[in-house]
Amino acid sequence: MNRVLSRDVKDYEGKEIALTGWVDVRRDHGKLIFIDLRDRTGVMQVVFTPKDKDLHALAEKLRPEWVVKINGIVGKRPAGMENPKIPGGYHELQATGLEIVSEAKTPPFDLMSDGREIGEEIRMKYRYLDLRRPRMRRNLVMRAKINKFIRDYLSERDFVEVETPDIGKSTPEGARDYLIPSRLYPGKFYALPQSPQQYKQLLMVAGLEKYFQIARCFRDEDTRGDRQPEFTQLDIEMSFTSQDEVLGLIEDLYTKMVKELYPEKKIKWSPFPRLNYVDVMATYNSDKPDLRDNKEDPNELAFAFIVNFPMFEWKETEKRWDAVHHPFTKPNVKDKDEFMKLFNEAPEKIAALQYDLVLNGYEVAGGSIRTTDPELLAAVFEAMGNKPEDVREKFGHLLEAFSYGVPPHGGIASGLDRLIAILQEEPNIREVIAFPKTGDGRDLMMQAPSEVSKEQLRELHIKIEQKE
Ligand code: AMO
Repeated sequence: MNRVLSRDVKDYEGKEIALTGWVDVRRDHGKLIFIDLRDRTGVMQVVFTPKDKDLHALAEKLRPEWVVKINGIVGKRPAGMENPKIPGGYHELQATGLEIVSEAKTPPFDLMSDGREIGEEIRMKYRYLDLRRPRMRRNLVMRAKINKFIRDYLSERDFVEVETPDIGKSTPEGARDYLIPSRLYPGKFYALPQSPQQYKQLLMVAGLEKYFQIARCFRDEDTRGDRQPEFTQLDIEMSFTSQDEVLGLIEDLYTKMVKELYPEKKIKWSPFPRLNYVDVMATYNSDKPDLRDNKEDPNELAFAFIVNFPMFEWKETEKRWDAVHHPFTKPNVKDKDEFMKLFNEAPEKIAALQYDLVLNGYEVAGGSIRTTDPELLAAVFEAMGNKPEDVREKFGHLLEAFSYGVPPHGGIASGLDRLIAILQEEPNIREVIAFPKTGDGRDLMMQAPSEVSKEQLRELHIKIEQKE
């Protein structure tokens, strides 16, 4: 029997087909039993009449979320019984056969609603059930379409998608690292990347010229609505480029993407305005202002670039100057001498070739033109409080790479979880991530973090100190 998806049933009028999926609801009307059968494309109504006694008796057993295979003949619903509100609402399946593939316990929460009223703990514990909701499925499907659009767009423009390591040495992006103990080198650690920043710059030294990656990044920081310990960036780097080119690229990519995948949405300004950091801070007291005319309107997309950031900010807790973006960003100076002079006079006045993209009150991308002069780069590391020997130990590989012929380069990284959450009109990024962590950094479904065996610890040369 031809297995058909619910969305295609209308094309099979008068034919016998098979549907597979989950029982969404069962309704009994006198002798008739109605099932809404749900598959990945929607729902289809199935009718069991008492004509076939055994079949009818079997259908009586069905409960929500049971997995079934149903054979039947496709027909039009009787006049007056159509449901114009749902796709497939003009047709139904007259059941001729039923196979119960898998029974199901009663789910711990309602799967029919959009789920917003249900406590998040329980949704996370049973995420595989939570993801059965049409809203969650739509979020994942749109996420896949966005990934595909990005890959097609950039590949057509000669960008090469390169996978960089997740097990490596950390890149300082201002957050705490996740560390991985080394089994073979006792007392040494790998780090998960906070971003592929150094790898993508090394790919420029390698001559790749146009790189992108849909990259997973790891930062051990407090989770919030727009922050996860692991999240996804669209990461881009280009050689022989300029701020104008980088901003133009990301603007064109997102404009075309919205037009194709979200035609109902309206981008407020085209081109995206470029606002000065200082002006934005003075006007909105935030570097990610919500610039929509109407904050209630989810179809309005107020993209804007923020430019002309300062290079450094004073970190009172550590009593040192820290990079506003990261140390690889180019200060707007001619050379090391000019940098040192300015840094000694007024560090806060040094401008950086750095930019952000904001959308409806969120920072959805950030990037910069990079320092490629090894002398200037070493001076920036030292200005941030690194001793010369630390610079060699932490960043020696990059400084050395830059001594072998480095093209000028720059790039940007866009937080895809945030972008997708805004486009999908979700209040937090957990709604657009298949298996996110809770607010306190746990995976309630898999029970992570968890203890590991003594044997595993021993191999990793780790002893756990018992708390007094
Ligand atoms: P940055 O640290 O600004 O830049 O990160 C780029 C974008 O990633 C998103 N983002 C996050 N999304 C979810 N959860 C988080 N914890 C999180 N942290 C950041 C934001 C942000 O704008 N390597 C540089 C980029 C570059 O210079 O090219 C970087 O990672 O949307």
